[in-house]
Amino acid sequence: MKKILISPSILSADFSQLGIEIKRLEQNGADMIHVDVMDGHFVPNLTIGPPVIKALRNHTSLPFDVHLMISPVHKYIKDFAEAGADIITIHPEATDDLDKSIKLIKHFKKKVGISLNPDTKIEIIKDYLSEIDLVLVMSVYPGFGGQKFIPEILKKIENLKKIKDDKNLNFNIEVDGGVNFDNSKSIINAGANILVSGTTIFKDNNGDIKKNIDTLKTM
Ligand code: DX5
Ligand code: ZN
Repeated sequence: MKKILISPSILSADFSQLGIEIKRLEQNGADMIHVDVMDGHFVPNLTIGPPVIKALRNHTSLPFDVHLMISPVHKYIKDFAEAGADIITIHPEATDDLDKSIKLIKHFKKKVGISLNPDTKIEIIKDYLSEIDLVLVMSVYPGFGGQKFIPEILKKIENLKKIKDDKNLNFNIEVDGGVNFDNSKSIINAGANILVSGTTIFKDNNGDIKKNIDTLKTM
């Protein structure tokens, strides 16, 4: 049985008490914390940066799964690594040298993720799949929580999983955006092993985080 990990997105958390919120996630079964960093340039929204990640670092021992929706991204990798990120995921469109950025993340001994927007083809990262720890497949256009899952992404997940199996690679397939109780089973069956969720985890079942995480895991 494939182990499914849940990475709740704190974009949907109460920003006035993020430390308490991530403790709640840890106590209720989260496997890692998905931190959505947005710069108002790569995506039309602004969230948090390294100082907040640094402030949150000692509130949990869970890995920080940091999703950098910022551009240019290369010059900020050091700051996020030193602030306490464990996984640093970047968008290929946000760096002019993907190989150099991957190497820099590894230099800081962090896990490397590459994120594919809905319109970005697997093709452009095919040559890097053996060097990275994670592909973050966006199932919404990045920038906001609470959007609707794009069903065509299921085929993309299947295609990615086929490449992973055919080449005997071991990167994780993480899916991000609009994941809920109706689609999580199809997403897992398509080949994902990590699910990001913000709205469903924080809002469904009157905000019963434990129930929502357990339900996503066992669908
Ligand atoms: C969107 C972010 C996602 C989002 C997920 O740009 O990358 O992580 O917060 O939130 P939901 O689960 O509400 O779609
Ligand atoms: Zn995200």
